[in-house]
Amino acid sequence: MERREAVIELEGVKKRFGALQALDGVTFTVERGDIFGYLGANGAGKTTTIRILLDLLRADSGRVSVVGDPTDQVETRRRIGFMLDADGLYDQLTAVENLRFYGKLYGCSPSAEELAALLESVRLSDRAKDRAGTYSKGMRRRLALARALVHDPEVLILDEPMSGIDPTGQIEIRAIIQNLVHERGKTILLSSHDLDEIERLCNRIALIDQGEIRVTGDLKKLLGAGGEGRVTIATSAPVVPAILAEIRDRFGVETGGAGSTTLDLRLPAGVRNADIVSFLSAHGVGVEGVAAKHTSLEELYAAILKEREA
Ligand SMILES: Nc1ncnc2c1ncn2[C@@H]1O[C@H](COP(=O)(O)OP(=O)(O)OP(=O)(O)O)[C@@H](O)[C@H]1O
Ligand SMILES: [Mg+2]
Repeated sequence: MERREAVIELEGVKKRFGALQALDGVTFTVERGDIFGYLGANGAGKTTTIRILLDLLRADSGRVSVVGDPTDQVETRRRIGFMLDADGLYDQLTAVENLRFYGKLYGCSPSAEELAALLESVRLSDRAKDRAGTYSKGMRRRLALARALVHDPEVLILDEPMSGIDPTGQIEIRAIIQNLVHERGKTILLSSHDLDEIERLCNRIALIDQGEIRVTGDLKKLLGAGGEGRVTIATSAPVVPAILAEIRDRFGVETGGAGSTTLDLRLPAGVRNADIVSFLSAHGVGVEGVAAKHTSLEELYAAILKEREA
């Protein structure tokens, strides 16, 4: 298997605000080329984690590194771009002036061509000379994203990049994020409380709940869409118990819906949909439809939170 490089690492990170244990031993790793979704409800601890990653806040204990170094090093911080809730834009400055200003802060002076290309990449070319104060919220988000990219960092950390953006704007920002990772080799950590957004965009996730990571890993694997699949088979007539029992014996599958015309199966590795279908037809059970089914992130989320309450 391909060995991947850890770009952001947190290990046992704790942070307390007075009586509140905001982070209680947060551990996860973002690998190069990830669009990593940091998922959690309001108040779960996402922004606190991100502020610690950016060295805007000091952890009580634990270890944090981005691109292999502690984040309090100036050199490390040049390799990171970020976007927080406050977009940090100057209303009185034009888009180009905002970018030039932030470029200087990072010790780089992007050329006019570079700035034009950057604004083009966030689809703001036509508003480059307008003041940020005249921008709509979605446009501000895109300019803030350009601002985060002005020093061409290899890692981007985005706190709720889609918040307050309409569906069309979200599609645009998603496309920009995908392009940054797939065409330009960036690594992105983004936080969100929106399951749907994370499911559309991210390849790996960590789910934080009350300051603790409940689950982390490859999203497809977590949702069971790889290897072991779930499948729903619609039959033309109810499946008799004897055949159900035999399906269990032969394939080791869990079956649901005895007496109904729907079988919900969880296929073990090595068993294909076709094996079940041919078995059914050999036993005179007509199959009207086969639908691969994967757990939605929403189901996973609900299951994890339920476990916590139990
Ligand atoms: N500076 C602070 N002082 C006291 N409590 C804080 C501070 N910053 C965060 N908290 C608390 O820590 C907890 C986690 O907050 P955090 O902002 O990290 O959540 P979040 O996951 O980003 O939530 P949201 O989705 O609402 O942005 C909350 O209970 C919050 O009130
Ligand atoms: Mg937050």
